[in-house]
Amino acid sequence: MGNSSLYFFQYYYYLVIAMYFYLVLISGNAIESPKYTVMHSESDFEIRLYLEPSWMSALVRGATSFEKSTKDGFHRLYQYLKGGNLDHSQITMTAPVLTSIDSSSSSSSSPPSRGSDYIVRYYVSTKYVGNPPQPNPELNLQFDKWRSHCIAVRKFTGFAKDDNAKKESEALVNILNKYLTGINGAVMVDKSFYSVAQYNSSRHLSGRLNEVWIDVSGFAAEGCPRYQGK
Ligand SMILES: *[C@@H]1O[C@H](CO)[C@@H](O)[C@H](O)[C@H]1NC(C)=O
Repeated sequence: MGNSSLYFFQYYYYLVIAMYFYLVLISGNAIESPKYTVMHSESDFEIRLYLEPSWMSALVRGATSFEKSTKDGFHRLYQYLKGGNLDHSQITMTAPVLTSIDSSSSSSSSPPSRGSDYIVRYYVSTKYVGNPPQPNPELNLQFDKWRSHCIAVRKFTGFAKDDNAKKESEALVNILNKYLTGINGAVMVDKSFYSVAQYNSSRHLSGRLNEVWIDVSGFAAEGCPRYQGK
């Protein structure tokens, strides 16, 4: 890509993100987000039980950057929302946009260092009762319903970028490992899997909310279902 088309791509991307959240704002009073119960709360993290959220997800393989894979995946999801589905319908806006990183795939793949796999997710409103319009096949999206499970969450502000997303996820892993040693010595959190949730449009320069999510099903708090997945 030449520089000018790269700039165009970035500009276009930010425009798309800005429009998305603008539509989120005018589409109703409340933006729908996945429902959860707080199971445990500390000053620097909390554990939430999410109740069977459904997502539309875009897999981005072998990528080297959280930011770039979020752009790529989100672009496909945005087309889906704007009518790129078999009903040609406009789909309800929600928050957050969630990017999950599986960095274990980079070290185990051969040849090595081909990047990581990322999954960018759009939260599917409960009004579709787990059955949203099907995406156009060329968008290569998957419908993805989670079981109820516990997630450790740490909030951070500013723009979510490669460096602060990684730093915040490492901070959460360290905090969790300390916390878990207290309640059950053996379990260590796998630091290769984490997600970053982004709630705000790029046109908001301050007061931005992001979160790092790490799956802690079954071992982090009383009442968490004993199911362990990614
Ligand atoms: C960002 O999103 C969060 C969660 O929806 C909201 O509480 C906050 O007010 C938003 N920030 C701005 C600047 O709109």
